[in-house]
Amino acid sequence: PETISVGELANRMAVRQGEVIKTLMKMGVMATAAQSIDADTAELVVNEFGHRVKRVSDSDVELGLENITDREEDLKPRSPVVTVMGHVDHGKTSLLDALRTTTVTDAEAGGITQHIGAYQVSMPSSDRKVTFIDTPGHEAFTAMRARGASVTDIVVLVVAADDGVMPQTIEAIKHAKAANVPMIVAINKIDKTGANPDRVRNELLNHEVVVESMGGDTQEVEVSARQREGLDELLEGISLQAEILDLKANPNRPAQGAVVESRLDRGRGSVATVLVQKGTLKRGDIVVAGAHWGRVRALLDDRGRQIQKAGPSVPVEVLGMTGVPDAGSLFVVVENENRAREISEFRQRKIREKATAMQVAARGTLDQMLA
Ligand code: GTP
Ligand code: MG
Repeated sequence: PETISVGELANRMAVRQGEVIKTLMKMGVMATAAQSIDADTAELVVNEFGHRVKRVSDSDVELGLENITDREEDLKPRSPVVTVMGHVDHGKTSLLDALRTTTVTDAEAGGITQHIGAYQVSMPSSDRKVTFIDTPGHEAFTAMRARGASVTDIVVLVVAADDGVMPQTIEAIKHAKAANVPMIVAINKIDKTGANPDRVRNELLNHEVVVESMGGDTQEVEVSARQREGLDELLEGISLQAEILDLKANPNRPAQGAVVESRLDRGRGSVATVLVQKGTLKRGDIVVAGAHWGRVRALLDDRGRQIQKAGPSVPVEVLGMTGVPDAGSLFVVVENENRAREISEFRQRKIREKATAMQVAARGTLDQMLA
């Protein structure tokens, strides 16, 4: 149930805490400033002070996300969103580089992915695209799922043929299964001496992943990111899987989606890489992401070019947020700044309350320990 601390309530009405405590006493409620009271009691107090209550409930706040259901006829095909996962150094970034024909790995410090990249790659024989997300580990994937942002349609599991199934490979398999996302196995580094793709296939069996060549239904592709082998086959595999999934979204509505990465840039301020899931994000839109909001000042595509708008499955960098939203936060376009402010303030308050509750709990255990 919704609650508010006495102190916060006083703060919001701009009255002294003592006044609120006194009013509560008159109503037969004994509370200190740090204690929380339920929303109904709070409303009575507010009325006593001659204010009116404008309640923002959890469901209200999230309504922006759910209240517009799309009609079947408004749905249009969208690109699949593919997350590349696998053990450290098995070649995730190299594989994406090869697919994009750029060299992101060279620019990365020590060749270890420092951030999530989100890119679009064109299919070899059509004008369709695939959106790829490169992860610096599985935390980002897990964080997104924990926050309810299931952005991934397909997982590409990269396993180095010379190294085989390793702890993070197993982790990735677990995540994909838990999220119920179909997986395609990319057996990488087949150019290396000592590469043994069949060993990979066998090791995968131990984790209930049965690839097609062993009679199962998980697609597998042998690739070499370095020699640029098997890339078209991998894209075709993704395309096939995407067709089965029949992915659609309505591009003609206010945008919503998820933050895949964010940072504070010295020159540009808050930079959030978001993945649009529904609708179309436009310059000038007012966006709420997690506990932050802002007016979209600029949109940049995956090559850093300014664009005016981004539709479903398109990853974009958003400039103009007032803060740095956590990766995995949902974002939604709202009608005006007041609404945006209301939602972000509500969420910030929730975060503060949670932090206080945790402090109180920690204090409690400390007291117990000292007693
Ligand atoms: P993290 O982001 O740190 O988890 O690593 P990653 O999975 O992105 O691996 P990355 O692409 O950085 O590649 C790790 C090393 O393997 C680099 O030295 C690559 O050059 C090498 N490598 C990647 N793919 C291939 C391949 O197909 N063949 C060979 N021989 N080497 C490869
Ligand atoms: Mg990497």
